Amino acid sequence: MSLNAKFEVLSFDDAEAALGAPEDAARPRTLVVFAGKELALGARAKAVVKDAQGQIERAAAAAKFKGKAGSSLEILAPAGLAVSRLLVIGVGAGGSDEADKPVKFEDYLGLGGQTAAKIGTGASAIVLLDLPEAPAEPAEAAAQFALGGWLRAYKFDQYKTKKKDDEKDGPIEVKLAVADADSARALVSGAGQTAEAVVLARTLVNEPANVLSPAEFARRASELMKLGVEVEILDEKAMAELGMRALLGVGQGSENESRLVVLRWNGGAPDAAPIAFVGKGVVFDTGGISIKPSASMEDMKGDMAGAAAVTGALYAIAARKAKANVVGVLGLVENMPDGKAQRPGDIVRSMSGQTIEVINTDAEGRLVLADALTYVIEKHKPAAIVDLATLTGAILVALGQEYGGLFSNNDELSERLTKAGTATGEKLWRFPMGPAYDKLVDSKFADMKNTGGRHAGSITAAQFLQRFVGKTPWAHLDIAGTGMGSPASDINQSWGSGWGVRLLDRLVKDNYEA
Ligand code: BES
Ligand code: MN
Ligand code: ZN
Repeated sequence: MSLNAKFEVLSFDDAEAALGAPEDAARPRTLVVFAGKELALGARAKAVVKDAQGQIERAAAAAKFKGKAGSSLEILAPAGLAVSRLLVIGVGAGGSDEADKPVKFEDYLGLGGQTAAKIGTGASAIVLLDLPEAPAEPAEAAAQFALGGWLRAYKFDQYKTKKKDDEKDGPIEVKLAVADADSARALVSGAGQTAEAVVLARTLVNEPANVLSPAEFARRASELMKLGVEVEILDEKAMAELGMRALLGVGQGSENESRLVVLRWNGGAPDAAPIAFVGKGVVFDTGGISIKPSASMEDMKGDMAGAAAVTGALYAIAARKAKANVVGVLGLVENMPDGKAQRPGDIVRSMSGQTIEVINTDAEGRLVLADALTYVIEKHKPAAIVDLATLTGAILVALGQEYGGLFSNNDELSERLTKAGTATGEKLWRFPMGPAYDKLVDSKFADMKNTGGRHAGSITAAQFLQRFVGKTPWAHLDIAGTGMGSPASDINQSWGSGWGVRLLDRLVKDNYEA
């Protein structure tokens, strides 16, 4: 997995020494400093730019630059500095309005993203990460900053045959000067692995379904073997033997065979029950015979964002050799209408033995997850399960694209997830569940039906899933709003966001490591 930016950590002294050498004419460089209110700079940054101080003040006055967060000032050919460009990036501080609040630890991720964008594709820069108010943990702040830069620099452009000139220049090259360079170096390199994990998930989501079939997804996931992940791939025959008719029914209208991928990372005690992550991996969702309208149907190439997040999370967890046992299960199918496709009214028997009446073939995700959940419970006896799925359009109606929906049978697991969400910015909002909602998926002809009527669509989907988890602590994350079609942000410009990778990695780090 290649990243679109390079970060080299160095001390302020080394940065000053680098700036003492003349600029390479073939590789013009940018110097980045951060300013708060009244052009306040950190002490080291101030010393470095002292000869340009007057020029900065005049330029700031002319551009009405006041150091507000999100704003920046660009000075070309600054006086007394061996760089072609000086970027002064506003970080606010001291005031009461939103753009003026002091920079908090959580802001370094976004700041790294903003900075990477302002440096620009293919450019080379020296960044003095010396804010007017220093963070309590400078090495960790530096790692967040670099992570933000990496995530911002990601582009899915391998199918663009005509690239703009600046896009041919290769990755951004950043020399990142920080207070505690030795500790920062290790943390920044760890952040690079996290970035690779997120980028892996984003690319899986962005790939079109003519490229990313269930078999191709399985092949890409199996590359995690290189990190020491055990990989097992079940084909249709293996799944039929296990009785996974709910999952297989969804894929039976497609020319592309279904797969179940099991990824296992054994970093914990040999006898410790794993935490399980289960992902919906519908590589394309036409709706099947209950076919979707054509408007925006192309978005349904992203209906495997849950499986992508699980793959990315296992990558992150294995790359940092987490001291935990983690199992990831990907239910990979394509939902197509065809002479062999499943019909509304069909009744299928799931691996759990429970029967399902398929009212709507477009409520396919829960059918896939039902068998994936049963499989992971029977084969891996997990201590807890988190499933991720682009499950319902209704979650977009309720939450938009800001929060993922959280549904759970366990308060402790819910709290852990909510905390991990706040810490990573991949936020969750918990919904109610209960017997009255559960009743809505009772069927006239089978044990249950796969739709619950017009009301509370995201909750009835979760109730359906809950019928397959027994007493295992379980949480379901509905990521239809957050996994794809993402609004551009400081740290993401990609359609597929990779949402959930950092959340799951954080959940493991904070709660399941020895
Ligand atoms: N993959 C869709 C949900 C979806 C919608 C994801 C929009 C991303 C954006 C899911 O399979 C689906 O079609 N759900 C139906 C369920 C209904 C038939 C009960 C829905 O939400 O309409
Ligand atoms: Mn569907
Ligand atoms: Zn779907």
